[in-house]
Amino acid sequence: MKTQVIEHLQCAVCGARVSVAQPLSWRCPQASNQDRHHVLHFVGASGDEVFQPQDSENPFVRYQKLLAWDAFAAQHAASLNERREFIERLDAQVASVAGVGFRRTLFARHEELSKALGFSPAGGLWVKDETHNVAGSQKARHLFTELLHLLFAEEKGLAPWGASRPELAIASCGNAAIAASTLAASAQWPIRVFVPQSVDAVVLNTLQALGAHIEVCGRQPTDPAGDPCVLRFQEHVARGSLPFGVQGTENAWCLDGGRMIGFEMLEQFPSTEHLARIFVQVGGGAFASGVGDAMRIAEVQNTQLHAVQTQGCSPLARAWSRAQQTGGTLNAGARWNECMWPWEEVPTSLADGILDDETYDWISICDAMTRTGGFPVVSPESDVVAAFELAQKSSGINVSPTGAAGLAGLMTYVAQNKGNYEQENIAVVFSGVLRS
Ligand SMILES: Cc1ncc(COP(=O)(O)O)c(C=O)c1O
Ligand SMILES: [Zn+2]
Repeated sequence: MKTQVIEHLQCAVCGARVSVAQPLSWRCPQASNQDRHHVLHFVGASGDEVFQPQDSENPFVRYQKLLAWDAFAAQHAASLNERREFIERLDAQVASVAGVGFRRTLFARHEELSKALGFSPAGGLWVKDETHNVAGSQKARHLFTELLHLLFAEEKGLAPWGASRPELAIASCGNAAIAASTLAASAQWPIRVFVPQSVDAVVLNTLQALGAHIEVCGRQPTDPAGDPCVLRFQEHVARGSLPFGVQGTENAWCLDGGRMIGFEMLEQFPSTEHLARIFVQVGGGAFASGVGDAMRIAEVQNTQLHAVQTQGCSPLARAWSRAQQTGGTLNAGARWNECMWPWEEVPTSLADGILDDETYDWISICDAMTRTGGFPVVSPESDVVAAFELAQKSSGINVSPTGAAGLAGLMTYVAQNKGNYEQENIAVVFSGVLRS
């Protein structure tokens, strides 16, 4: 793959552009509180330089030159070494709170699961294990690039707040709130988390221990459609707090760190083998966007991306078919209103981390599935339960139902398609730990 240096951010809906040098470029300049259907994507230019990972187990250092944050900091006269040191310093602070810093996570063929699922020796199930990542899931990857951006802007005098930092804010029911509170604590930055009434007691205790301000949000009679936690979060940001979440629509910089998991997987997979498909569970969609965007930059061919949702909440699969009917699944951003709207029923599933009623980052996932020849998979609840039980019984990884939902997608795919999956190498991400 070629080194691609990020040059600007461009809205996938209206086309507006923002230089990568611009600080605090969370949202499209055309977005407003009345019109939130905008999302900035990173756009870069590839030169002739073949990309060489730096010698580090920290993914943000290893793939430093591919980071939009690296391009941002370079534009403000920080040298390559200074940028690396900045990442390593913050990583050490994160490790002091989380117990671990960012390190490449394991990605390997899983012998027991491959056998249990009937794979032949020629193929196999490959599992990326995020359960030991910072804060127990992939979420901290997204937030680390937001925090890098904030701290760098502050240190270089590019941020307007002087000595009194605005609060960080996030809407989430679990992993993202814990990851955000962990990173906020590492920077001693106050944070407010907006969680649903159904929030798990273990999650609440963890958030409390991390010093987060917690707001439990119920639906108000006057609320429009959509997640009430997201609504309260948006109101708080409108009053001046900083969006510190994992939805590209609210803070594009989450999409930067999200790509690192994709770069890792592509590098870790043996170059002598062929990876046929990747199943990625989708909630708000930043996670699958990151995997898909890494595949685009690495010019991966012949690996299909499948977005996995549950029958209890599948707005992305609906958007995919709406996009097919209205002009195609590539670059469908301008057709947002025709394709993506909040799921009408109350979303339910054992995989409760992917119940976002709207797939905020749907555009780049549709692009990635189109480019790779993939398609969405909607798993019946029985597969969600079966995948969790199989993972708990046979994987040796203490994964949550949400974390195992990609495996549910594979099971659904196998039940629906009579292809020769047994001969294929197929990847899933066990994205989050089971908390107890
Ligand atoms: C463990 C886990 N996996 C996957 C996801 C889905 O990620 P995204 O919301 O970016 O689609 C989540 C989101 O909460 C999660 O907690
Ligand atoms: Zn826009």
